[in-house]
Amino acid sequence: MKVGVVGSGLVGATAAYALTLRGSCSDLVLVDKDEARAEAEAQDIAHAAPISHGTRVSSGGYAALPGCRVVVVAAGANQQPGESRLDLLEKNAAIFREVIPQVSQHAPDAVLLIATNPVDILTDLAGRLAPDQPVLGSGTVLDSARFRHLIAERAGVDATHVHGYVLGEHGDSEVLAWSTAAVAGLPVADFMRSRGREWTPGVQGEIDIGTRDAAAAIIGGKRATYYGIGAALARIAEAILDDRRAVLTVSAPTPEYGVSLSLPRIVGARGVEATLTPVLTPQEREGLEASAAVLRESGEKVLG
Ligand code: 2OP
Repeated sequence: MKVGVVGSGLVGATAAYALTLRGSCSDLVLVDKDEARAEAEAQDIAHAAPISHGTRVSSGGYAALPGCRVVVVAAGANQQPGESRLDLLEKNAAIFREVIPQVSQHAPDAVLLIATNPVDILTDLAGRLAPDQPVLGSGTVLDSARFRHLIAERAGVDATHVHGYVLGEHGDSEVLAWSTAAVAGLPVADFMRSRGREWTPGVQGEIDIGTRDAAAAIIGGKRATYYGIGAALARIAEAILDDRRAVLTVSAPTPEYGVSLSLPRIVGARGVEATLTPVLTPQEREGLEASAAVLRESGEKVLG
């Protein structure tokens, strides 16, 4: 199967690298307005192919996209220190108005997987610019991974055995669904007590802040994040390519809230196959409503 990556910056190139190492697809094409950059990234990643799964990696213009099952869109500017994801909206919306119609024209049957921030509103915008094909966003798949990583550290357990969802905006208003977080099937607090691990409101608060502020901390240290999001994009793309029906907190239009945001969704060949309704505490539900309101208000600038 063939995957396109439009935007060969750090996020797009790392997603392409992750797809190559994981053997997610047989063919990868990188597209960027900076053709030399796309070609250099493609060549560099192609040198990993013989050592992994033999993926054919190339670069090209939009005309290289026909036949893609998935097109990852990572084109646009990323946050600078002190900037919020929402601060990028006007700039990246203008880029999307140029890029998405071209992608849709050349890959009309592909599922569009949006990575560019602010990802929720740009997922909505992409859906309007490409109304005849499935569109979803990476949403809080990365945040949920961060949440699970921090719980796993405190629990002393392999993070793949920790369950936890972050919902709503991929951004400052996101909601950590503590009420359904679990380690080995046990509610987090019960697990920690059973294992004699420290568990206090302060520890929970550290995980909360560590999840929300992860991107800002990393950007402060190295100016961008790309490994976590690159792996998240590869995971979502695989769920589509292989019709995995994986449950992932991807961003997609959610009529109940009038905006794209992240909820647990079954992801398969057609993108979002179904959206699940998580059981939340009243406080978590209020947080999700507030997050949706932030996105609706911010989105008005570009969605009308
Ligand atoms: C992240 O959360 C910046 O949205 C990017 O890593």
